[in-house]
Amino acid sequence: MPNTLDKTFVENGPWKKDTFHGKVVFVTGGAGTICRVQTEAMVLLGCKAVIVGRNPEKTRKTAHEIGQLVHDPHSCLPISSVDVRNVDQLHEAVKVAIQKFGRLDYVIAGAAGNFLADFTHLSSNAFKSVVSIDLLGSFNTVKACFPELVKTKGSVLFVSSTLHYYGVPFQSHVGAAKAGIDALSNALAVEMGPLGLRFNCVAPGAIANTEGLARLTKNDSSSDLSEMIPLQRLGTTVDIANTTVFLFSPAASYITGTIHVVDGGAWHVGTQI
Ligand code: HXC
Repeated sequence: MPNTLDKTFVENGPWKKDTFHGKVVFVTGGAGTICRVQTEAMVLLGCKAVIVGRNPEKTRKTAHEIGQLVHDPHSCLPISSVDVRNVDQLHEAVKVAIQKFGRLDYVIAGAAGNFLADFTHLSSNAFKSVVSIDLLGSFNTVKACFPELVKTKGSVLFVSSTLHYYGVPFQSHVGAAKAGIDALSNALAVEMGPLGLRFNCVAPGAIANTEGLARLTKNDSSSDLSEMIPLQRLGTTVDIANTTVFLFSPAASYITGTIHVVDGGAWHVGTQI
């Protein structure tokens, strides 16, 4: 199944076409598989998007393709050579985004890094790299976007996981980082609630055809995995996109400080992915 949306997402789905008309979403990791489809869904529903990434060619190409979905090359702005570990680069990216679109309403903090490594082969620098991309990068993203989000009473969605609900071997670095993201989101939800800002997490389980799943399940077939999931299938990027749309939409205006697990019920039965 291709990891990209088309106009049938709007035509056949439950969402209203112009749900996000006049709004702007800022996405880190927007050229990656899951965040790309989250961005596509927002753009198809009328939002403008800014995708921020490290790789110039990948970021530019992805933005171009997202723009083509709505036949508007200006609907998705690529900003590349930005490493979320560097808050100054994010501040610059926000400046460019504001010059282009004038506002920020939503943030998807999705930039992440992962690899399987047992503790004895996980160097201090490797642990730091993943925690810095996932957790510090999420903090930096909110830090840079915050002044604009205050103006629009905006909403943030962090991309978490279910790894840290149990102890997943060879994932101590990612589990620690994602647990931190949940804690960051909860704290900011409470602290910033009085300003009208909302902070939530989406926690994907095994999502088909993603780099993350490929990295974690080198030897498992998708049918083996599906049998271990109560809903008997892998998740899709559309499942995450739909959750994203819901959490940013006015239908979720009283929802903050939550973690939306989208895993087909897997973690309830201890399926570690
Ligand atoms: C052990 C490793 C390693 C591996 C890198 N390192 N790969 N150690 N096993 N497979 C070590 C390096 O040796 C180095 O430590 C340290 O990590 C930093 O490596 P660099 O290559 O210098 O870092 P950097 O260029 O910043 O790259 C960061 C990265 C890389 C995380 C290591 O993989 C990356 O950029 N990934 C982005 C893409 C990605 O991971 N996508 C998947 C996201 S999915 P030393 O000690 O040698 O200096 C996802 C899902 C999570 O996150 C949830 C799943 C359910």
